[in-house]
Amino acid sequence: MRLLPLLAEPLAGKGLGLPHDASLNGWRIDALINETSVFVILLFVIMVGWMVFSVVRHGPSHQTRFDHGTSTRSIAVGLGIAGAIFAVVDGHLFVNSILLARDIVGNFAMVEADPGTVRIEINAHQWAWVVRYAGPDGKFNTPDDIVTFNDVVVPQGAPIVFQLVSTDVIHDFNIPNMRTKIDVVPGMVNRMWFQATETGEFDIACAQHCGVNHYKMKGKLTVLPKADFERWAAEASANSARGYDPDDAEAHWGWDWAQHSRI
Ligand code: CUA
Repeated sequence: MRLLPLLAEPLAGKGLGLPHDASLNGWRIDALINETSVFVILLFVIMVGWMVFSVVRHGPSHQTRFDHGTSTRSIAVGLGIAGAIFAVVDGHLFVNSILLARDIVGNFAMVEADPGTVRIEINAHQWAWVVRYAGPDGKFNTPDDIVTFNDVVVPQGAPIVFQLVSTDVIHDFNIPNMRTKIDVVPGMVNRMWFQATETGEFDIACAQHCGVNHYKMKGKLTVLPKADFERWAAEASANSARGYDPDDAEAHWGWDWAQHSRI
């Protein structure tokens, strides 16, 4: 049952209001979000309970005692409790975010070393995603490249790594169901990766306000079983090679992958 039908939710989710997770590592992010929510709920209950207790306890029948804020012991206890809460709640989030970035989200050495990895270049502009695969020769910007428009097709169960550029303003490549997104910034090549555990169709959205048609900047991610993906790629590459025009400089926007993989 969807409790919050007004939330933009690409697929039915589970957990505390999060969209459906179809990725290998999304649970790690969900766990951090859920743990933080639990801490916040716990603190809310304790603080409201404390306030209610004080209001009820300190009625007309209970003499108020003032310390005029001069008790160093009260200040030390207050600061101690606040510091402990900060260290536990924010510290937990801080340390685990750094570990997640190091071991998973930012671990491109691991992804680049995997022989099954699929590499994709994205060229973002107002207001579309142009998508490029290297094709059978493994080199970008050659006649066998597969080029699609707002359409990313990937195999299930393999790491998918993206290098992304923008030719105009800042966009943000966001796939909620894969728990991954990254800003796409003019003048630099950014990277992100995910691995899909489920087949199906998922939304790709732009998550930076990038002009009047920002809301239309939508793509589709299709996750296919590996054999179906390979069939699709062979066909798409053959079509691209047939339609290749060596004089169409605009169409040859791809770049050398290795130059930006920093491994
Ligand atoms: Cu591109 Cu919003």
